[in-house]
Amino acid sequence: MNNRANFGSKLGVILASAGSAVGLGNIWRFPFETGNHGGAAFILIYLCCVLVLGLPIMMAEFMIGRRSRANTAGAYRLLSKGTPWKWVGRLGVLSGFLILSYYCIVAGWTLEYIVQAATGSLAGQDAEGFIHTFNTFVSNPWRPVLWLFVFMLLTHFVIVKGVEKGIERSSKILMPLLFILLLVLAGCSISLPNASEGLRFLLQPDFSKVDSQVLLGAMGQAFFSLSLGMGCLCTYASYFRNDTNLPRTAFNVAMIDTIVAILAGLIIFPAAFSVGIQPDKGPSLLFITLPNVFQQAFGSMPLLATLLSLLFYILLALAALTSTISLHEVVTAYLHEEFQLSRTKAARLVTSGCITLGILCSLSLGIGKEYTLFGLTLFDLFDTTTAKIMLPLGGLFIALFAGWYLDKQIVWEEASNHGTLKVHTYRLLLFALRYVAPVCITLIFLDQLEVFG
Ligand code: PFF
Repeated sequence: MNNRANFGSKLGVILASAGSAVGLGNIWRFPFETGNHGGAAFILIYLCCVLVLGLPIMMAEFMIGRRSRANTAGAYRLLSKGTPWKWVGRLGVLSGFLILSYYCIVAGWTLEYIVQAATGSLAGQDAEGFIHTFNTFVSNPWRPVLWLFVFMLLTHFVIVKGVEKGIERSSKILMPLLFILLLVLAGCSISLPNASEGLRFLLQPDFSKVDSQVLLGAMGQAFFSLSLGMGCLCTYASYFRNDTNLPRTAFNVAMIDTIVAILAGLIIFPAAFSVGIQPDKGPSLLFITLPNVFQQAFGSMPLLATLLSLLFYILLALAALTSTISLHEVVTAYLHEEFQLSRTKAARLVTSGCITLGILCSLSLGIGKEYTLFGLTLFDLFDTTTAKIMLPLGGLFIALFAGWYLDKQIVWEEASNHGTLKVHTYRLLLFALRYVAPVCITLIFLDQLEVFG
């Protein structure tokens, strides 16, 4: 018998996993990656990545986590005693730590925008004004750091509260609320003048723009958005109950995550095109177009504009929080279980480490802009290295581990809950893990290295 914590209900399982998946990756990162990579063709490739790589690898993480009932590094250590596979888990912990360090900066920005919305500072500005507001804020050495600090403390608080009370309860309320607000905003954005140009950008693929960057970008975005490749869902699955239906949970989480990303696209692009903002504005896109949507759509009703923008930034912050919690949990569970630290002490170490790295990343957008490596600021370097290299690499190893190394009996027992569920896709799953995912990920990496000329 083990006495690890468990999620209390089926809905809790889905919402906590979806809470990890849905976050800034969908609402902030997906639109700017889509904008950078030319629109609809990127989205189609992204959808293929979710289906062909995301779903099977999510299943693999679920199976490994629930079977081992351990943190991600412990999971590989237990399931493959004395082999180098344990490094897959450790790579995941490192990825989680690095992602959390820059993710909480953007999460902090949402807090600044909550304050700006609440104090009415966003009212009455035009597109140029919003660009100026954002640039001034981000390059200020203090304010973003202050918010990053606040956000990490919030995350720390939930983590210390534990799995069921902290993680599960918060996800159950926040996820549905966010979804409804996104629907309303998509409706507003689509009804703005000239919105059709944005819809065309989203829906009419131009495959002539597809190159190795687009493929790598779409793959990285799929891993990032679904929280895959670093053992995050593996860690959550270690708290799943034995009767949790893994294939159904994986399908639901991937569906929810994809719908939210598409909704975010439907909000951002019609709005951006409507006021003539370039869709390739990068990380600032969400923070410039969104206040504009509120201004344009509800300018004549300032109170409603203020209320809706306030609600949006609160929900965005909360969506980010359910993701930072999951990132933090990966590293905390690792330190707690592998080094026998108390949960509180482990959490403290993670929080302070991330704040320190986070401060450096945040400064790299302002006063430290000149310090670059491979032409990237520290912030961009962390984002690119984790999403486009570490997560897909982690995903490749996870697929190989579940497809080739793990005993087939274990895979079958976990996928079918010891034969009590009918899993029609079992063969397909094995095929995807053994061949499709490893081959696709390797080809995309090789293409990036220009091996094919
Ligand atoms: N999936 C989250 C998002 O889309 O915002 C980010 C994330 C969380 C990435 C957890 C990786 C992870 F393990």
